[in-house]
Amino acid sequence: MQLIDGKKIADDIKKEIACEVEQMIKDGKKRPHLAAILVGHDGGSETYVAHKVKACEQCGFKSTLIRFEDDVTEETLLETIASLNADTDIDGFIVQLPLPRHISEQRVIEAIDYRKDVDGFHPVNVGRMNIGLPCYLSATPAGIMELLSRYNVPTRGARCVVLGRSNIVGKPVASLMMQKSQPGDATVTVCHSATVGLKEICREADIIIAALGQPGFVTEDMVKDGAAIIDVGTTRVPDASRKSGFRLRGDVDFDNVAQKCSFITPVPGGVGPMTIVSLMKNTLLAARHDIY
Ligand code: GUN
Repeated sequence: MQLIDGKKIADDIKKEIACEVEQMIKDGKKRPHLAAILVGHDGGSETYVAHKVKACEQCGFKSTLIRFEDDVTEETLLETIASLNADTDIDGFIVQLPLPRHISEQRVIEAIDYRKDVDGFHPVNVGRMNIGLPCYLSATPAGIMELLSRYNVPTRGARCVVLGRSNIVGKPVASLMMQKSQPGDATVTVCHSATVGLKEICREADIIIAALGQPGFVTEDMVKDGAAIIDVGTTRVPDASRKSGFRLRGDVDFDNVAQKCSFITPVPGGVGPMTIVSLMKNTLLAARHDIY
């Protein structure tokens, strides 16, 4: 069994990006600049955004964090997005999700100029991704593909089961895994809450990508010997022994599943760090105008 070390790969990529940024500065170019909008004080979102700001520092990017309380109006948010769209110093920006219920996430996403949509959530980027055109790939699926690539996990002709059908992870990673590319070229099945015979479907899989948000959902009896397991889950579960009072738990029952598989990602330290680094890669692409 090989443990997929997302933390190490993410650290390596951030160093590569920092070198490129120093070269850009030497060439007289502008420092890449990422902005993030954070609404409210959701614990998970606070942590993710703090990690994104720190990663910007490590990559030599400028970053701007714009905060709103959770009673902000949709109108104010849309005005802020319009001003970031127009700001020539900002190469790309994100609005951290989830948003409070009174704000339409879809309206917010569609207000972002797709050329600055480094999260890859705008329908233009989602559409281009689906037909294999250059675009900003959303961060978690891109991070997963990078891990499969760097660890040479065989995907061509493999049976890949994706658990979860979210717009952020399940749907896009299924699309990338079926694309005629390397990694890719897999035969993909997407399972969700209405799937009948989920266990049996999983048992046929050469690759399982678990993105349900249900801690420990994937158990030993659902995994074929030698399968590769990618765990996207990051649920906070209470842990009195921690200062924070919680720890992160993945969608996979790691201790029992690890013995059966060829590759597995840990939580934390697997997919999570790669998600942040994919956002950094998109920001670099945006600063260089490589795509748009
Ligand atoms: N919430 C959970 N994942 C993400 C992400 O990749 N980007 C944003 N903006 N919000 C998220």
